[in-house]
Amino acid sequence: MAEETGSYNQIVLEHFNYPRNMGEMENPDGVGEAQNPVCGDTMRLFIKVETDRIIDAKFLTFGCGAAIASSSITTEMIKGKTIEEALMISDQVIAEALGGLPPTKVHCSILAEKAIQAAVLDYQNKIYPPTHFRKGG
Ligand code: FES
Repeated sequence: MAEETGSYNQIVLEHFNYPRNMGEMENPDGVGEAQNPVCGDTMRLFIKVETDRIIDAKFLTFGCGAAIASSSITTEMIKGKTIEEALMISDQVIAEALGGLPPTKVHCSILAEKAIQAAVLDYQNKIYPPTHFRKGG
């Protein structure tokens, strides 16, 4: 279904029309998925990490223009950041980087924030597997 994009600013439109780092990543170190329970839009974020620094990021998003723009700019924002720095990127920071989102679309950037957290968690679980397994016997 076509979306009414007239309320998007130039930065949002640019990322929506020419998304950066879109696609699947081979052998990612972390994968995070987030879904907006209201509209059902989904974002999957892939990260490559080296010595606790995100060196590459890609995304696949099934969602509205604001969600795609948020995903796109998020991949640019987290590249080069440490895990700790990436976790500090909130939905507000993402929306600000996009020059603001229309009031009805402000929630769309939350998808990207949640995807960062999920991807980092996945990465950390691989590096430091949960130790809640009980020994048998
Ligand atoms: S309307 Fe669903 S994330 Fe934007």
